[in-house]
Amino acid sequence: MVVADWDSARGRMLLDPTVVNLNTGSGGPLPRRAFERVTGLRTHLAGGPMDFLLREVPPLLWKARERLAGFLGGDPHRLVLTTNVTGAVNLVASSLSLAAPGEILLTEHEYTPMRWCWERMARRQGLELRTFRLPDLPADPGEIVDAAVAAMSPRTRLLSFSHVVSSTGLVLPARELCEEARRRGIVTVIDGAHAPAFIDLNLADIPYDFYAGSGHKWLLAPTGVGFLHIGPGHEESLEPPQVSWAYQPPPDTGLPDERDRFGSTPRLRRLECEGTRDICPWLAMPESIDFQAELGHNRIRSRRRELADHARQRLTGRQGLEPATPESVALSGGMVAFRLPEGTRASELRQWLWERFRIEVAVAERPNRPLLRVSANFYNTEAEIDHLADALQELLPGRSSRRTGAARTVRR
Ligand SMILES: Cc1ncc(COP(=O)(O)O)c(C=O)c1O
Repeated sequence: MVVADWDSARGRMLLDPTVVNLNTGSGGPLPRRAFERVTGLRTHLAGGPMDFLLREVPPLLWKARERLAGFLGGDPHRLVLTTNVTGAVNLVASSLSLAAPGEILLTEHEYTPMRWCWERMARRQGLELRTFRLPDLPADPGEIVDAAVAAMSPRTRLLSFSHVVSSTGLVLPARELCEEARRRGIVTVIDGAHAPAFIDLNLADIPYDFYAGSGHKWLLAPTGVGFLHIGPGHEESLEPPQVSWAYQPPPDTGLPDERDRFGSTPRLRRLECEGTRDICPWLAMPESIDFQAELGHNRIRSRRRELADHARQRLTGRQGLEPATPESVALSGGMVAFRLPEGTRASELRQWLWERFRIEVAVAERPNRPLLRVSANFYNTEAEIDHLADALQELLPGRSSRRTGAARTVRR
């Protein structure tokens, strides 16, 4: 696609034109048609709630489930829809019962609330929680597998890892990690918050036990879409977080894994139903998938990589910035993070990028050095990345103060 086509694709997005949005990794804007769809559905819900919920929702819900499962390479009968990935991971952690004594193993780079979720599970079940370091800027996925295998022990009961690490965009070799875990009888839970539509995800290729994901990042679905795909053998493992009407299916309901009249299966509905609520984002999500499919998922991925390469070129070495994401296609997908100079105050930098330059970009404190993460998508431009580079030049002191060890307050 040429630049003009990307311009026209940008015109089909609901993007605030006054903002340079380089943070799809935290939350994607909506294609106009997805917004119109979810708003239209909400209009039906508002105008005739019971007609909508009883008659209109069921076929739409099954259609949405099938569309998402097809897109992910999964099975609609095993796809629990949730509000977000947090809900999906919590569903697993609050349901499973692991043999104690033993341990839950995580990478050191898990998203903080997800780590807390596993910490709580460990505490409740008399287990330990242990983390292991991922290699810095690995050259090969095998280095990650080696680090994980070295960390696994006969005490390891469960391994959870991010398919795409939130802070850096590093893509983990999910298939190999799950194969190693399975060989040792370790349950795997993949946090795929960033994966759908970011990488070429095919769930059928990965021998996980549970795969959780989000819709509101790279999938560009309305806020309120998450999922949990249940791996084989775990059909009976999960307990609904809320006891609702679906807890005891009506006597005329069919087999647990057969499509039911609610647009679900009895087993999935038991886990999904939280009483009366707004599930319009689930129903509208196929619009987002179709929109990106029309642009071409592979084309979008290549465009994202072009923008990430441009960010590397413009930012590496500037004001002491160093890439924290490998370039290799096997290990990254178009988010690129940079280590900021020691002493940079992340929240201050983020605030000034926003207030002075209207740039939305992730800047986070990390144990060694703060990280700036550029997550550009097809609706971004090289000029926006240049704007970030210029803003950083203005806000961060030059390299010389680093050598003197001076504190890195952000210049106003
Ligand atoms: C790796 C990872 N896991 C979990 C989450 C939580 O996502 P949500 O708030 O949509 O549940 C995020 C959010 O950015 C994330 O990056």
